[in-house]
Amino acid sequence: MTQSTFHVAIIMDGNGRWALARGRPREWGHRRGAEAVRRVVEAAPGLGIRTLTLYAFSSDNWLRPAREVTLVMRLLQRYLRRECEELSENGVRLRVVGRRDRLPPEVVAAIDHAESATASRARMTLRLAIDYSSRYALLEAVRTAARAGTSDVQRADVAELLGQAVHSDGPSPDVDLMIRTGGEQRLSDFLLWECAYAELHFTPTMWPDFTAEDLASALQEFAGRERRFGTVALAG
Ligand code: IPE
Ligand code: IPE
Ligand code: MG
Repeated sequence: MTQSTFHVAIIMDGNGRWALARGRPREWGHRRGAEAVRRVVEAAPGLGIRTLTLYAFSSDNWLRPAREVTLVMRLLQRYLRRECEELSENGVRLRVVGRRDRLPPEVVAAIDHAESATASRARMTLRLAIDYSSRYALLEAVRTAARAGTSDVQRADVAELLGQAVHSDGPSPDVDLMIRTGGEQRLSDFLLWECAYAELHFTPTMWPDFTAEDLASALQEFAGRERRFGTVALAG
């Protein structure tokens, strides 16, 4: 891993519980969660993160009550519309990864706009995962390879096919550090292939409470870990 490829992924979990614990509806937690996204995205490039992938809405999240889904879609649309200027100023290139065929048209339009407005930025790539399912991406990759009659699929091809499956503009990069807030310790169908050797960091902090300092301390803890990739530690 080099600084130029340092990839952090975050499962932003705990919005609903955070709100309910304060006697507010779950939707309130999503609103406050959007503020945490802003804080973290602003801090990330300065902390050496070159690719940041945020899990905003999973394909299984469509199963939630319609009211909550509608509110989350509206917040995502607003985020994409309002933030793209600031992202651009901060040198952040935005890509939305996931399916687009089931999203409200106004969300797709906001995605197209934000992606083209930030396309030339190179300080950090922010990948926002919306209607994302890692298993769906893997299935699509297999289907594409089968359709093309490719019998000799290499690892690099899989990363490329995964990127294509989720509308990324390049291969899906391996994750160095996966953070999940909200206390659960699972991946919930996020970046399964890409996390083969990811370091995992679970925190009980609910997403609306997560700060730039929390991100910095997760990175500091990560820096002290020894990654071996299946081999043995080097002596000395
Ligand atoms: C994560 O927070 C945000 C989305 C899935 C949209 P949750 O809404 O899952 O919050 P909890 O886990 O129910 O507290
Ligand atoms: C994962 O959280 C999806 C996002 C954070 C967007 P969930 O709250 O949907 O995951 P489960 O249901 O607890 O596994
Ligand atoms: Mg949750």
